[in-house]
Amino acid sequence: MSELILDRVVKSYGKLRAVDDLSLEVRDGELLTLLGPSGCGKTTTLRAVSGFVPLESGRIFIGQRNITEIPPERRGIGLVFQNYALWPHMNVFRNLAFGLQLKKLPRETIKERVEAGLATVKLSGFEDRFPRQLSGGQQQRVALARALVLEPDILLLDEPLSNLDALLREQMRFEIAQIHKQLGITSIYVTHDQTEAMVISDRIAVMNQGKLVQLGTPAEIYSFPSSKFVAGFMGTTTFVHGRVVQVRGERITVRSDSGLSIHGIGRQLSDGDDVDVAVRPENIRFLIGPENGRARGKENTFEARVTRASYVGELIDYQLDLKGSLLRAKGETAHPLAEGAAIRIHIEPQQLSILKV
Ligand SMILES: Nc1ncnc2c1ncn2[C@@H]1O[C@H](COP(=O)(O)OP(=O)(O)O)[C@@H](O)[C@H]1O
Ligand SMILES: [Mg+2]
Repeated sequence: MSELILDRVVKSYGKLRAVDDLSLEVRDGELLTLLGPSGCGKTTTLRAVSGFVPLESGRIFIGQRNITEIPPERRGIGLVFQNYALWPHMNVFRNLAFGLQLKKLPRETIKERVEAGLATVKLSGFEDRFPRQLSGGQQQRVALARALVLEPDILLLDEPLSNLDALLREQMRFEIAQIHKQLGITSIYVTHDQTEAMVISDRIAVMNQGKLVQLGTPAEIYSFPSSKFVAGFMGTTTFVHGRVVQVRGERITVRSDSGLSIHGIGRQLSDGDDVDVAVRPENIRFLIGPENGRARGKENTFEARVTRASYVGELIDYQLDLKGSLLRAKGETAHPLAEGAAIRIHIEPQQLSILKV
């Protein structure tokens, strides 16, 4: 079993706690993403796991093995960085073979492993090329293959796609996810890009200021963010401020500052709590034509005004004024609404997260 366990890991630089009491369990074969803004401690966490920074306190295990005091080269961990870090004076074959030669593996085994590694990243036949003769995407594949040929128990990837252009990044996301599925190596993937995290991860650990703030599947974190920070970080979200006026299990009713009665879902809330209602653009439904008449008086049906309409290709990106709160919404290009138009909207209570301020 190669699950990876971080138990209350702390690492400071001077007075700054870069990793602050982080406990995390990456399951055997899982790809878990550390997601958070720049500076939140993602790289420091990976460096702690790989053994390049000593812990201030806490422990790290791979399966039953306590690796806290074990030097990096004996941890069985493969690393892939943002900047590839290939050796420029070595061709692809030697870049991949180098670590295997250090392990004193037989020549035939090395050749087989290098060939298999290149096949995995779809670069068979590139053995003789030098890094400068490869595109950024190809260099990153070589870097990945170089980590894989060592057959690590754990794979750590630190923003491996952030130097690539947008189109290639999107394509490589799927490839990395597929390679992970194929090999089933327990992996931590680091990114600050929420879409990338959603596509690639079995689970996501959202970090802020060195701390773990939420852990869950992409769908759980997207649909039920535990805080305004997570909601704001996981895609476009706008907020309506108010107070809780009724609690029925997880069904919460809020009275907004502007006097609207809003129904949504929330946890661990009580009457009178100061809250933000998190509204996702795609959950706002425009009521047009006969639907509009039927919806009058129904719960979570509101009057709003279009304050901005931007055509962004496959849809229109709207800004709406909901009694003083600005919301973002998405609309079909087939039924464009003009700026200034009055409109009735509906939001399913199930799709509104009520978050404590
Ligand atoms: N070697 C270092 N010396 C001092 N401070 C550092 C060092 N490495 C990182 N930090 C600080 O620790 C915090 C976390 O950094 P890092 O782990 O690189 O964040 P992330 O990878 O999430 O962007 C940041 O505030 C950063 O400035
Ligand atoms: Mg980093």
